[in-house]
Amino acid sequence: MSSQATTSIAAMASSFLASVKILTNTQPCAAAGLLALGSFTVASTLVAWTSVFLRIFVRPGINLKKFGAKKGAWAVVTGASDGIGREFSLQLAKAGFNVLLAARNGEKLAAVAQEIDGKSGSAVQTKTFAIDFAHADDATYEQFQSTLKDLDIGILVNNVGKSHEMPTDFIDTPAEEMNDILAINVNATLRVTSFVAPGMASRHRGLILNIGSFAGSAPSPMLATYSASKAFLVTFSEALAAELKPKGVVVELANTYFVVSSMSKIRRASAMVPTPAAYVRSVLRKIAPGTQTPFWSHALLDYVMQIAPASIVQAYTHALHVDIRKRALRKKEREAKKN
Ligand SMILES: NC(=O)c1ccc[n+]([C@@H]2O[C@H](COP(=O)([O-])OP(=O)(O)OC[C@H]3O[C@@H](n4cnc5c(N)ncnc54)[C@H](OP(=O)(O)O)[C@@H]3O)[C@@H](O)[C@H]2O)c1
Repeated sequence: MSSQATTSIAAMASSFLASVKILTNTQPCAAAGLLALGSFTVASTLVAWTSVFLRIFVRPGINLKKFGAKKGAWAVVTGASDGIGREFSLQLAKAGFNVLLAARNGEKLAAVAQEIDGKSGSAVQTKTFAIDFAHADDATYEQFQSTLKDLDIGILVNNVGKSHEMPTDFIDTPAEEMNDILAINVNATLRVTSFVAPGMASRHRGLILNIGSFAGSAPSPMLATYSASKAFLVTFSEALAAELKPKGVVVELANTYFVVSSMSKIRRASAMVPTPAAYVRSVLRKIAPGTQTPFWSHALLDYVMQIAPASIVQAYTHALHVDIRKRALRKKEREAKKN
């Protein structure tokens, strides 16, 4: 710092102290009020930061043993053949749950089941169920329900999800894409939960883990349908959490920012974008009821977004999506030229 800058800071500080002295002498009540207000603001900010720090880095989650790990209980994972769902399947098997894996592609499901069998020996069992949640009819759902009926299900991970092919204004979004998003993100979650929750409530034990998105906690222009479907999950999860708490069932919404996967189209991990393995580890270590943001950097961003003005968050998200769309269109053009 230059000596000129140091001198001007010292001058400002001494003029500030002089003003405080004048105020204290002439208006003692106002000075005391301002001092109390300032102290309260500093103290409440410190309390908020400490509680955010403890929540993100210190507070442990509910132990998975509470949901029947190593006691023959099953974990049901939707969208289990790839990305985050595949990791939930592998890590829950490692923790001692039998795993039922559901997704569209039977071969990919069988490969994950085989990987679990290879790693666990005969410590846990696996089952697969091929289902397209975008187009499943009542008969398929009934088959799925009867597959689940006799299982002691300790954990349900409603992970399957679909977003828009790329950020697009609502008025240009194909109807089929909107219908699929609602069928997968909303309808499948409701139906599968309705198959599993009664058994959990009667056993007085269970975890229903719904995979949410930052797009659901703040409106996301150009992903309007996806954003609203994930906001639905927030409200649904919190209402269900209150209903099922007295029945011994934990319901959590895992609020998720970007994770490396085919859906995010991000291939390289970074501090803000974990691999599915790192992400799922953080979720399973910090199980708690209600809306949670388990990954540390996502939780810090979530805190900043909560204290920032909503209009700024929305403008930032909108600009980000305009940019992602431009890049996605350029990529599509390049691929079209290649073919
Ligand atoms: N990755 C992120 O950055 C991110 C951010 C926020 C939230 N999330 C949420 O995290 C969840 C998982 O996303 P991800 O990134 O892991 O996705 P992903 O890598 O694309 O995997 C999606 C999984 O769902 C299955 N699936 C897709 N469509 C299906 C359908 N119609 N019926 C049945 N299964 C279907 C896929 O297998 P098949 O193709 O074999 O069906 C696959 O197993 C989603 O709910 C997503 O919204 C992700």
